[in-house]
Amino acid sequence: MTSAVSSAASAASLGPSASWSGGSAPVIELHGVRKVYRTGSLEVVALREVSLSIALGEYVAIMGPSGSGKSTLMHILGALDVPTSGSYRLAGDDVSRMSEEQLAEVRNRRIGFVFQSFNLLSSLSAWRNVELPLCYAGVARAERRERAVAALARVGLADRVEHRPGELSGGQQQRVAVARALVGDPALILADEPTGNLDSASTEDVLGLFAALHEAGSTIVLITHEPDVAQAAGRVVRVRDGQIADDSGPAPAGASPRPIAGKSGGHR
Ligand SMILES: Nc1ncnc2c1ncn2[C@@H]1O[C@H](COP(=O)(O)OP(=O)(O)OP(=O)(O)O)[C@@H](O)[C@H]1O
Ligand SMILES: [Mg+2]
Repeated sequence: MTSAVSSAASAASLGPSASWSGGSAPVIELHGVRKVYRTGSLEVVALREVSLSIALGEYVAIMGPSGSGKSTLMHILGALDVPTSGSYRLAGDDVSRMSEEQLAEVRNRRIGFVFQSFNLLSSLSAWRNVELPLCYAGVARAERRERAVAALARVGLADRVEHRPGELSGGQQQRVAVARALVGDPALILADEPTGNLDSASTEDVLGLFAALHEAGSTIVLITHEPDVAQAAGRVVRVRDGQIADDSGPAPAGASPRPIAGKSGGHR
């Protein structure tokens, strides 16, 4: 799985920042981020003065009760939504100052998303869904198909490439969403409960993929409710009521992610 490295390196010429390829700035730097949703006359404060710094190559699990603000945080980290106040620097660049074009470039080429609701297009086959990030990134058609099929094989769906989401089980749809996030070998992977619907064997497969990407240099931020899944990460950040309640901090230098429980010993 060395391709994750080569793609991150080949993308190094993009954008104004050198931090994606090993500059000194953290990949993610939030300062006093507040997010208020307004629905009619109702205001929900989803994040309150969140400050968080994540270095290149870290593997971070975000945990917290339902409604605590985890998905909101992920949307902001992925530059899909903007803070109501506070600042966000992504690879050293202030997101609020980036042009739409720069934002699109970052989202399409640097970040792999796994959404909580999968966000698959129901009219497209599995491989067509998976190739989408490559379309946005301008990869040629034949290569797109090859890479999409390979990504589906990595999540154990080699025999489902022509199926549409409606013809797949919930766990299989989730694995298509994971394949779509990985297909572009992104430098940053943001995953919202990527194993929430999976059995233990599939969970281990997906965590194995993330571990390999992490070893190849990707930065991973993963939201989970499962302690076992969080354990695979070197750092656990706990969110409660829109605030960071606890942060185990960066893993010691040189530490690799903990082995996945039961990885070599069959199913839990
Ligand atoms: N688009 C929105 N408009 C209004 N309120 C929202 C919106 N999205 C989220 N919220 C509210 O913001 C709060 C945080 O939501 P968020 O989705 O970030 O929680 P979460 O931690 O991801 O929860 P879960 O574990 O259930 O996925 C919740 O109270 C939610 O109702
Ligand atoms: Mg959520």
